[in-house]
Amino acid sequence: MLGFIILAFFSSFVECAIWNSLNDVPNINRRNWDFIIAGGGTAGSVLASRLSENPKFNVLVLEAGPTNEDALMSIVPGLQGKLARTQYDWNYTTVQMPGYNNRSINYQRGHILGGSSSVNGMVFTRGAASDYDRWARVTGDPGWSWDSLQPYIKRQERFQPPVDDHNTTGQFDPSVHSLTGMVPISISGFQHPTVDSITLQATKELGGEFKFNLDMNSGSPLGIGWLQTTIGHDGTRSSAATSYLPPRIQSRKNLDIVLNTIVTRVLPEKSGDPSSRNTIRTVELCPRDDPSAMTVLTASKEVILSAGSIGSPHILLSSGIGDVNDLNALEIPVILNNPSVGRNMTDHPSLNNVSFGLREPIDLGPWANLDADPDLQAQALELWQKNKTGPFTALVKYDHFGWIRVPDILLEEFEDPSSGPEAGHTELLIGSPSGKFYDIRLRVSTPASRGSISLRSSNPLDAPIIDPNFLSHPFDIVAMREGIRAAQRFVASPAFSENGVTGLLPPWNGAVSDSEIEEVIRDIAVTAWHPIGTAAMSPENADWGVVDPDLRVKGVDGLRIIDASIMPHIPCAHTQTPVYLIAERASDLIKEAWG
Ligand SMILES: Cc1cc2nc3c(=O)[nH]c(=O)nc-3n(C[C@H](O)[C@H](O)[C@H](O)COP(=O)(O)OP(=O)(O)OC[C@H]3O[C@@H](n4cnc5c(N)ncnc54)[C@H](O)[C@@H]3O)c2cc1C
Ligand SMILES: *[C@@H]1O[C@H](CO)[C@@H](O)[C@H](O)[C@H]1NC(C)=O
Ligand SMILES: *[C@@H]1O[C@H](CO)[C@@H](O)[C@H](O)[C@H]1NC(C)=O
Ligand SMILES: *[C@@H]1O[C@H](CO)[C@@H](O)[C@H](O)[C@H]1NC(C)=O
Ligand SMILES: *[C@@H]1O[C@H](CO)[C@@H](O)[C@H](O)[C@H]1NC(C)=O
Ligand SMILES: *[C@@H]1O[C@H](CO)[C@@H](O)[C@H](O)[C@H]1NC(C)=O
Ligand SMILES: *[C@@H]1O[C@H](CO)[C@@H](O)[C@H](O)[C@H]1NC(C)=O
Repeated sequence: MLGFIILAFFSSFVECAIWNSLNDVPNINRRNWDFIIAGGGTAGSVLASRLSENPKFNVLVLEAGPTNEDALMSIVPGLQGKLARTQYDWNYTTVQMPGYNNRSINYQRGHILGGSSSVNGMVFTRGAASDYDRWARVTGDPGWSWDSLQPYIKRQERFQPPVDDHNTTGQFDPSVHSLTGMVPISISGFQHPTVDSITLQATKELGGEFKFNLDMNSGSPLGIGWLQTTIGHDGTRSSAATSYLPPRIQSRKNLDIVLNTIVTRVLPEKSGDPSSRNTIRTVELCPRDDPSAMTVLTASKEVILSAGSIGSPHILLSSGIGDVNDLNALEIPVILNNPSVGRNMTDHPSLNNVSFGLREPIDLGPWANLDADPDLQAQALELWQKNKTGPFTALVKYDHFGWIRVPDILLEEFEDPSSGPEAGHTELLIGSPSGKFYDIRLRVSTPASRGSISLRSSNPLDAPIIDPNFLSHPFDIVAMREGIRAAQRFVASPAFSENGVTGLLPPWNGAVSDSEIEEVIRDIAVTAWHPIGTAAMSPENADWGVVDPDLRVKGVDGLRIIDASIMPHIPCAHTQTPVYLIAERASDLIKEAWG
């Protein structure tokens, strides 16, 4: 009996493949990993899961953050807003941005297994078919087109009934969804019928740019439709970690996940001769709490950077892969001169304070004051824990959202930054969180501004300089301003007026002219947390870009980048789903390369 218990204990110990620190990994220097993945985030979790399906591949994941298990703020959708500035956040701040009247803003990034998918707003959108077709066109690789990615869309998504089991007929199009993929998705399971019926009535009255769109995830997102979320039928967040690395996958013998560990640099196999091509299969790493315990590990096949749009260029630059002038200025030895590393950063600027007055509050029932009342929040958490009911089964108090285009006449001034006529320039999130006013949050989905990630110092443990450079291009301020005008047109419909919706509230009420509106935008806009493009893919022989269409770092062997940083253009989508699709396809590319 005792022997049995010891055996059971021992074998469960051996099968555990998730380690809290480097020191816990037995025989670490004598292990032979085929693939070392830097960053167990959205893309990294998919890759770990898919690559370890092949029992011949030994896979190691190095993640800076802690485990997602028992992280209540991550698990409970309604607690998402509390994750910023905790141990689950990198706590970044941007530089002061001229386009934001010299404001700097908080720049949240997931620091936890599952990465930003473990902390994000759980909005599930794919973008326009033309967004992917543009990637295919720009890179010369038809494999990135919307049609070619369909198998990966199916593998990624597991569409489920909402947690409240309400009748979702008419709220989505089943023909564009998959029931068999990895990530549980549902229509929001805590809706707001009074607000929703006003919004739907307005789509009927206005049509046109505000037409009802049965499903934004069909590839044609224009119009107003129902929100879909990365929340399963069980009322909990679906992250890359919960979906792709559940215990049955974590326990694979050929997969090791080491938490609380920072990858500082990648190292070339030979140095000294700048004319010969480098092979990079070695990572330098240290425990998060102990930089003095720096060590190196070498993969036998490939090193994959999946540290995200900030982390991946940060690692490259610290390693000496970047603009030779910038590297020289910090006295970092140059492995490869590539001025594209960290450049072309693109993110969606966001306005969260576009509120319209109401003559009478909308009756939202007992939860109206949820955001402000800690007692209500405690009750909501209790309900979620008890039987997965109540407002904490959803995050967003906005049940509808949609995309519109900037009027053609204004587009004539610019090169249209969208991927095509079916893509949206501006996103609207529509609802009434408290019943006291009506809200339309705005995002520019096709920003033309470009920012950068660069190094503060030669110490890889220093935070990088983050400059999204929002609203630096004139198109973006026009698109945001036209979004305000569109929101005003939307609430001018009979449905809204009859329900007592009045004009814009502060800080907008005095802003009438274009320039007055633009000034308020620059004073209060923030981010949608969707950075991309800092290690962009480009055609094999292009004079720009960081990775080729198979996501191999140009100019070296052994190293790939697979995460949001490789997108050459930002889709009109919240970016987690595009990242999932990139990682799904990339894992096939790698399996083919080593198959
Ligand atoms: C607050 C917030 C809200 C968002 N809301 C939405 C939304 O509602 N819908 C949506 O679709 N998208 C949303 N996004 C965007 C979306 O989550 C991201 O685009 C996507 O998850 C990025 O995936 P990734 O794999 O590129 O990076 P991440 O998922 O961020 O993964 C990077 C991982 O690498 C780790 N890492 C970084 N550097 C190192 C290092 N040096 N060593 C070791 N590990 C490292 C990080 O800790 C992290 O786990 C949101 C993002 C945030 C931050
Ligand atoms: C972010 O800040 C919080 C609050 O100060 C802190 O507890 C947390 O450890 C920080 N995160 C990281 C990754 O250092
Ligand atoms: C922003 O800073 C720059 C440089 O210091 C200055 O010229 C400019 O006037 C500032 N803009 C605002 C709106 O304060
Ligand atoms: C759901 O609603 C649709 C139309 O509103 C109706 O036809 C259908 O019978 C309903 N389904 C269920 C299970 O009640
Ligand atoms: C930024 O991207 C564009 C293509 O969208 C490219 O032409 C340009 O060279 C890139 N810039 C850098 C520094 O990589
Ligand atoms: C905007 O809204 C946020 C909450 O969503 C609030 O914290 C912030 O103070 C508001 N800013 C302004 C300028 O009204
Ligand atoms: C969930 O629990 C609450 C509080 O006890 C109860 O009022 C409600 O009916 C329960 N709902 C379901 C679906 O069981």
